[in-house]
Amino acid sequence: MAGSTSASTSSPAKNAAAAQDELVLVMDFGSQTAQLITRRIRDQNVFCQLVRHDLTADRIKALNPKGLILSGGPASVYGEGSPKIDPAIFKLGIPILGICYGMQITCYTLGGRILPAHSREFGRSPCTQSSTAVAGNLLFDGIPQTFTAWMSHGDHVESLTGDFDPIASTSTCPNAAVKHKTLPIYGLQFHPEVTHTEFGGQLLGNFVRNVCGCQGNWRISSLIEQQKELIRKRVGTDRVICGLSGGVDSSVVAALISEAIGDQLSCIFVDNGLLRKDERGQVEEHFNGHFKTDLHVVDASARFLGELAGVSDPQKKRKIIGKVFIDVFRDEAKSIPNAKYLAQGTLYPDVIESGANPDGPAATIKSHHNVGGLPAELGFELIEPLRDLFKDEVRRMGVELGLPETMVWRHPFPGPGLAVRCLGEVTEERLRIIREADAILIEELHIAGLYRDIQQAFVVLLPVQSVGVMGDDRTYENVAAVRAIQSEDFMTADWYQFPHEVLARISTRIINSVRGINRVVYDISSKPPATIEWE
Ligand code: XMP
Repeated sequence: MAGSTSASTSSPAKNAAAAQDELVLVMDFGSQTAQLITRRIRDQNVFCQLVRHDLTADRIKALNPKGLILSGGPASVYGEGSPKIDPAIFKLGIPILGICYGMQITCYTLGGRILPAHSREFGRSPCTQSSTAVAGNLLFDGIPQTFTAWMSHGDHVESLTGDFDPIASTSTCPNAAVKHKTLPIYGLQFHPEVTHTEFGGQLLGNFVRNVCGCQGNWRISSLIEQQKELIRKRVGTDRVICGLSGGVDSSVVAALISEAIGDQLSCIFVDNGLLRKDERGQVEEHFNGHFKTDLHVVDASARFLGELAGVSDPQKKRKIIGKVFIDVFRDEAKSIPNAKYLAQGTLYPDVIESGANPDGPAATIKSHHNVGGLPAELGFELIEPLRDLFKDEVRRMGVELGLPETMVWRHPFPGPGLAVRCLGEVTEERLRIIREADAILIEELHIAGLYRDIQQAFVVLLPVQSVGVMGDDRTYENVAAVRAIQSEDFMTADWYQFPHEVLARISTRIINSVRGINRVVYDISSKPPATIEWE
């Protein structure tokens, strides 16, 4: 079996050298916002990666970052088994910013005392800079004397060693921000990465530019050129297969590779009969038209629907769809001679969460169920040009590559498609009903200018019928549920607070024009405890 690697490699050092020459590392002490810090630094046009908290000083030195950020975390520095840091890291001369636990572990390692705070502090607090200027404090450049900081901590740094100066405080936290007297080391008890902290982005910008000396030259456009070069070098004269799903990730991968190697790319799009209205046509239009790829559209809808007939159990549906997809894909791939590589739209959060990077944080349990993932036995080498990128960066890449807005900003759509939104048995007729209702919902979101405010919206067809009246007739028809959520990362989500008139229009249009639906309900469940999809 061929090995599985990426167009870029999985080592932060090599990635950094390949894609950019300024690297900032975030050491992960278990905070839920560690990925967010990484994104915020990238917003400063500085390449940033998340690494384990227990990397040694030698390894950090080899990675050659311009700066280190130590994330927050749920532990207490005195707690048994609490995550520690190699003390030699503080002697490397690399600028360091400790955030929350990251600040506590910094002060603790350098001799300070950490205590449970007199009062735990959660939420917004006014934070005031010290009135006496602290020599060389570059962190607060341009930031007002008092600003709102977002706190989330039990412990705090009670006493500093003589090496640190306090540079800001809140009413309950005397050391809300600290600076080392001689080394480029800062600590913040609050969280600059969350939007609730005023000037948080500016603060992080001050750290990477003023303290670390970064220029901030990392750009998506230069990344595209570098990736294209890497792909060309790696692929040579061989052929690459890309599985297109119609979603933004695989579309960006296909567009990027198509620009890199032109007609050496073949795309496979499997129509499983579970797609939304016009979905197949849109993919054909873009990849046959604009990108002129060798596009193989496999109409396997009869096979999928045949295998799903009579099946209502959600897990069984998923298994069937996953298996049939692999069979269909494999058969089609066999018809493409000399294909050595398979391109996939793996993203940075997937790489982090899978624990695939030896320097990266340990794997966490991934709640996404990736039906449509292709097994290694297919025998291809993997090309994963997006594995350093977050979703919003992939979207920016898509825009630069000329993909249409509708594709770049499209809401995620699950691999098993409408099958998991058609509760109960999946039939042609029930799929028709969902397709029509879903298209109305999406159109109304566009009309109301809400599509981009909402991260995912769709219609679910319930296995329930209810009584209604239409004209003089009694009806006994299906119930459709509208789901619309807001979410940063799809791990948690809030239900969307629609203006009532928009909900009213959606409901009226669906009931009036979709044959088979006489009642619409709105799902007001957050995740957790509900999930985004219903199955
Ligand atoms: P849940 O329902 O778990 O969904 O809250 C979280 C996100 O994952 C998508 N999802 C899937 N994506 N295959 C996929 O590729 C699947 O089987 C699947 N199930 C859920 C869901 O649409 C949401 O964006």
